[in-house]
Amino acid sequence: MSISFSEESNEEIITSAARLSEDNNEGSLRPKSINEYIGQEKAKGNLSIFINAAKMRNEPLDHVLLHGPPGLGKTTLASVIANEMGVNMRITSGPAIEKPGDLVAMLTNLNEGDILFVDEIHRLNRAYEEILYPAMEDYAIDIILGKGPSANSIHLDLPHFTLIGATTRSGQLTAPLRDRFGVSLRLELYTPEELKKIVTRSAGILNVDIEESGAYEIASRSRGTPRIANRLLRRVRDYAQVMADGVITNSVADMALSSLEVDKLGLDALDRRMLRSIIEYYNGGPVGLETLAATINEEAVTLEDVYEPYLLQKGFITRTPRGRCVTRRAYEHLGIVFAGQQELDL
Ligand code: ADE
Repeated sequence: MSISFSEESNEEIITSAARLSEDNNEGSLRPKSINEYIGQEKAKGNLSIFINAAKMRNEPLDHVLLHGPPGLGKTTLASVIANEMGVNMRITSGPAIEKPGDLVAMLTNLNEGDILFVDEIHRLNRAYEEILYPAMEDYAIDIILGKGPSANSIHLDLPHFTLIGATTRSGQLTAPLRDRFGVSLRLELYTPEELKKIVTRSAGILNVDIEESGAYEIASRSRGTPRIANRLLRRVRDYAQVMADGVITNSVADMALSSLEVDKLGLDALDRRMLRSIIEYYNGGPVGLETLAATINEEAVTLEDVYEPYLLQKGFITRTPRGRCVTRRAYEHLGIVFAGQQELDL
């Protein structure tokens, strides 16, 4: 099937939750302490208790698994934990660990109490996971030197450290690895109110003049994701500078976001393409994720991890055992007449 769409997706789509090259200066906007970190109240509440308890016992924090959609601040939260514990954090990622020696080197270079942050931990080679088991449980690793009958094993003690793993797909972690995390926290999409606070805080750091209604407009069109909110803030700032004496008002934000093709509810071209395909080619669904992904020429994991969470939260799609369905709300948002669905009464 060949389908052409009027709305082209570009490589670095502005509302992508994935890290883009322009996010390299995200660091300056990152909160340092748990008090500065906005939202994720449940995760923060639990973490504060665990951090305080570990400090009172003078022990490192238990290993922590952070999971949830991209762009919600998993790396940021890990660095906040390191700051609160008063320790250093080393950062690596599952795909960056190309050979067992990479992981051994990271582990043996840690100091007592340090945090090792492994982003995208679900992409760590399964064979290397076994190095992590004794490291996490007993703070030790066994290294095998040589091969065959002359092989020798040496036992290395490690400093007491904390592993913080981050993943968008906790279901893909093996059970033995998942079970070794004492703390598992799920990060949720942010509410517009929380994002408004983040946008206002970031505008302060960037020295941008912003009205409350301008901050809310950006917040409510950022797919529940701080990374997108901060990126849109920078783009809207450019418009404000050229068109409105540098002040981000509600109408400047609206105009800027509309020209970036971010609609009133924060849906971008790919969201609309996904919804439209389900309606036009599958009569509103149900359609399997793989089939849908092939139809719109995207990866199924991208649809599932990056696009679906927001569309589900907004009530534009539902997941059923037989596939994805769009709701009456999605028809209304796209201005398409709802002709009723055969399978489900939505
Ligand atoms: N910047 C990105 N995420 C943030 C958060 N949760 N709180 C404050 N600033 C942020």
